Amino acid sequence: MRIAVYPGSFDPITYGHLDIIERAAQIFDRVIVAVCVNPDKRPLFSMEERMEMIAQECAHLPNVEVKCFRGLLSDFVRQQNASVIVRGLRAVSDFETEFQMALMNRKLNPHAETMFLVAHPKYSYLSSSIVKEIASLGGEVTDFVSEQVALRLKEKFSKTRRRA
Ligand code: PNS
Repeated sequence: MRIAVYPGSFDPITYGHLDIIERAAQIFDRVIVAVCVNPDKRPLFSMEERMEMIAQECAHLPNVEVKCFRGLLSDFVRQQNASVIVRGLRAVSDFETEFQMALMNRKLNPHAETMFLVAHPKYSYLSSSIVKEIASLGGEVTDFVSEQVALRLKEKFSKTRRRA
């Protein structure tokens, strides 16, 4: 059985992530969407919120599950008996960091191969950060995230605006 891990921050999940997950789900027997607990980042959404949103978006994909991990991705991949790490590539600018991460992960876990899926052109300019910025300024984000995620973004930022 081929198990792939698709790691990320998913703060929040966008249509760009979902496109990669759907395509990975066609290629691999099981896909684990792995949400990273990163102590250096202050995410907008809690781990529970991020996992809930991903689970809702992936409800139609029976071979996809959502987990969280802390520490090294290479260790998590080993624990899950996965042989592949999936990452999406949007543009050449992604390449340098992704290349470094792929080589380092291979050094740390030689049994796991990183595979890149090239983002669909219609999502190549999309990132969770830019979606959060647009939502924080009151812009429409329903072309980039699902209705449920857009609603959660709206709720988050209406709370912060009320506090400001
Ligand atoms: O969605 P992101 O923020 O681009 O995801 C980055 C992520 C979570 C994949 C990366 O930061 C990661 O793998 N973190 C885990 C810590 C780790 O293993 N670091 C060494 C990787 S070379």
